[in-house]
Amino acid sequence: MASSFHIIQFDSLPSTNHYLREHYHNLSPNTVVVARHQSAGRGRFDRQWVDDGGNSLLVSILLKEDEFNYPIPLVSLATALAVAKSLDQVVTTQIKWPNDVLIQGKKVAGILLEGVSSSKMDAIIVGIGLNINQRTFPLEIASKATSLTLETGRHYDKDMLLMRLLTSFSEEYHALKRGTFSLDEYKRRLVMLGQTINYEGQTALVVGISPLGALQIKMGEDFHEVTSGEVETIDLYHHHQ
Ligand code: BTN
Repeated sequence: MASSFHIIQFDSLPSTNHYLREHYHNLSPNTVVVARHQSAGRGRFDRQWVDDGGNSLLVSILLKEDEFNYPIPLVSLATALAVAKSLDQVVTTQIKWPNDVLIQGKKVAGILLEGVSSSKMDAIIVGIGLNINQRTFPLEIASKATSLTLETGRHYDKDMLLMRLLTSFSEEYHALKRGTFSLDEYKRRLVMLGQTINYEGQTALVVGISPLGALQIKMGEDFHEVTSGEVETIDLYHHHQ
């Protein structure tokens, strides 16, 4: 499955997502760009994604279809599930909606999706940053970030993890296109169901995930669906009955 990807490797790029955004027109679907280091790595909400040059996987996958025949927000969830499943042989992970992958509450992988559209959606760029062999993180993120090495004490082969990641992504993406993507499987790995979260300054209870991938929350007596915005988990390990 992973063999259907065309992988381009760089020592350094400003950002693998940015590279695909600039070149998507001339590149075939399933082109994968990997960089050892990014000088201007980007995260969600216009944040930076900083790397130490060599200890993480920095990868972007180009999706191109004549028609995107599935709900586009689900790509985000499918990617998170793919990343989580690709790590199953290494460590137990959880997902924080929509697409952070955590180990014991700390982030091990982040995903940044970008759509390129003209009159229709031309391409989707799936950017994944996976922390692998780091032993330390900058002070600002040290309490929130982790790596596979920090969690297990072992060193990992990045190429092997990339192959597992692409195989896993390919499976979830095909499921999405066939209409067989399992939201239940995603939900089983979600840390937030039944938990109290902070949403835009208010307390809310997470009650589910909609078929289109929105977070369903209850605030007071009202139900809402959250499609964007940042949600902050308050009691990560406390499950309501
Ligand atoms: C987030 O959690 O905020 C998303 C982080 C996404 C980082 C990856 S690294 C590869 C790709 N290129 C980028 O500039 N960003 C994504």
